[in-house]
Amino acid sequence: MMRMSKSKDALIRVENVSKTFGKETDKALELRRSGKGKDEVESETKTTVAILDASFEVKQGETFVLIGLSGSGKSTLLRCLNGLIPPTEGMVYLENDDIAHMGKKQLQQIRRNKMGMVFQNVGLLPNRTVLENITFGLEINGVPAHLRNKKGRDALELVGLNGQAYKRIHELSGGMQQRVGLARALASNQEILLMDEPFSALDPLIRREMQKLFLDIQDEIHKTVIFVTHDLDEALTLGQRAAVMKDGEIVQIGTAEDILSHPATEYVKRLVQDVDYSKIRQAKSAMSTVDLFALEHESPQVVLRRMKAKKLSSILVVNDSQMLIGAVPLERVAEFVEFHKPNLTGIKLENSMCVHPDVALREVIPLFVNRHLPVAVVNEQNRLIGQIDKDSLIASLTEQIDVDSETVNEMLQKEVLQK
Ligand SMILES: Nc1ncnc2c1ncn2[C@@H]1O[C@H](COP(=O)(O)OP(=O)(O)OP(=O)(O)O)[C@@H](O)[C@H]1O
Ligand SMILES: [Mg+2]
Repeated sequence: MMRMSKSKDALIRVENVSKTFGKETDKALELRRSGKGKDEVESETKTTVAILDASFEVKQGETFVLIGLSGSGKSTLLRCLNGLIPPTEGMVYLENDDIAHMGKKQLQQIRRNKMGMVFQNVGLLPNRTVLENITFGLEINGVPAHLRNKKGRDALELVGLNGQAYKRIHELSGGMQQRVGLARALASNQEILLMDEPFSALDPLIRREMQKLFLDIQDEIHKTVIFVTHDLDEALTLGQRAAVMKDGEIVQIGTAEDILSHPATEYVKRLVQDVDYSKIRQAKSAMSTVDLFALEHESPQVVLRRMKAKKLSSILVVNDSQMLIGAVPLERVAEFVEFHKPNLTGIKLENSMCVHPDVALREVIPLFVNRHLPVAVVNEQNRLIGQIDKDSLIASLTEQIDVDSETVNEMLQKEVLQK
């Protein structure tokens, strides 16, 4: 069997995993590999090829998403990762241990200490308190009470349920219960979380809230997460990388940008055609270089001339270290000229609109409402690194360059109406 090249930082490595349900394993696999479709093979052999030759790696601290339609093999593949289901063929490595061929005892150890699982139905114990539920896994593992309560409380704080520790589960709303489920997974000592459609049963608003919470928490704790969903927006929002599955096969693995910009197959292309780019693309994708700005110590006269020549009604001002100081309108520069000021220091600057390069475009759109000026893009040190204007924003949102201004205005209008 061919081995994949291993990367050093891979925590989980899946190599050529296949899984069949039924008696005619060999024949079913052979037929699938010779190009026959999943359903066809199923009716011919009464055997389901749930996964076919899947290979991928998950890095430490990464959120890796498995996405695909119902029946594409996501849950089965996830269960192969923690040994709940032994693969028919192939290897699953956790660091250097082969999960696929491990004894029961050892697997149990790993599930307890290294890999947790979160399901759609969170499986909370209704008669225990919130805190007891969260610390249940730790209790089983013999972690002393004071330690597990501390962990439990930290986790509760992370999901914003500090005050609810002693409530019983049935006293909480569905969304709160979901948070408890998340807190329980987070409180565990397990560094890897397998999450099978954990948010799918939630209504859209709470779901979005949970996604945001998940991202915030991941930002802090950096667990390694394998997240199953059939929702593309969710996949691209939460995952650093995603594997797209179809009929048991992984048809593409990549970042959101890879998958959106270079869909590997017709299937992926169809899957992504309705995607909302504003949620997935970042400000930097719409950024261009700033061709016109003013330095703080420049002569107002020079700046004014430059602005008039380019018909600018306002200009971004930076200091010697390229740090953004603000924006100044033409009239103010003209006043400075009139009063024979030597430079722009001391000028009253307008709050210039600025964003970091990694914010979602969705957050940039509203900044353009009733505004014709570009938005500044600054790095962590507040240095000006680029700008976004309306045209580049729209191009980035639609992936086309030649969008007429009517579409632009329509979009902005919509954005206003939604507020
Ligand atoms: N225990 C089982 N016995 C027989 N067939 C199974 C079993 N588990 C899964 N399958 C089959 O394997 C295929 C993959 O199922 P799986 O549950 O992994 O899909 P999924 O992508 O998780 O779907 P969903 O989005 O509906 O949860 C399906 O054809 C399913 O019918
Ligand atoms: Mg499933």
